[in-house]
Amino acid sequence: MNAHPSPKTCPRPTAGRLLRWTTALALSAGLAGLTHAFGVTPGGSAAPSTTSANPFFGNADAARKGEELFGRTCQQCHNTRGHGGKCPQLVRGAWAPGGANSDTFMFETISKGRPNTQMASFGLAMSQEEIWQIVTFLREEAVRVKAEAARKKGDEDDTWY
Ligand code: HEC
Repeated sequence: MNAHPSPKTCPRPTAGRLLRWTTALALSAGLAGLTHAFGVTPGGSAAPSTTSANPFFGNADAARKGEELFGRTCQQCHNTRGHGGKCPQLVRGAWAPGGANSDTFMFETISKGRPNTQMASFGLAMSQEEIWQIVTFLREEAVRVKAEAARKKGDEDDTWY
């Protein structure tokens, strides 16, 4: 089986850009209620131990399930392990919680999709649990990618003679 059944191109129409961001803003406003409904609001104590909204943050089992789901559903466009190519990569860049690529932002994007792009909404096809599993996988992959880049850089910096 072909491991890279990606389409040749990944159209990113510019016309939808403003609309998409407007939508993203509107959606993030509704997310507080969504995560609450899913029961991920850090329970009991006032201060959460992590800033991530992801209930599976750091959960290896969830990451494994997310990897499998990603391979079946997302890899055809985002390439193996989300490394991108035809469509945007999902494992490098600004991953700070609360930033544009925060867990919440990713969850929303996957759940609602991006109007006028090939990025469909998966909110009906997948459970919230499954979407968080994918986010968990992408986060762990991002950590691996970063470590690998650091290792390579270390190799280059090393002088052997
Ligand atoms: C048919 C191709 C296709 C499939 C399948 C697909 N995506 Fe996408 N995805 C896209 C495109 C195209 C974009 C960029 C949209 C844009 O121009 O803003 C995108 C954007 C995204 C983004 C936002 C990236 C950013 O830089 O803002 C995330 C996160 C994402 N996809 C996750 C997923 C996940 C997870 C799945 C599987 C459940 C998936 N996608 C399946 C095509 C696809």
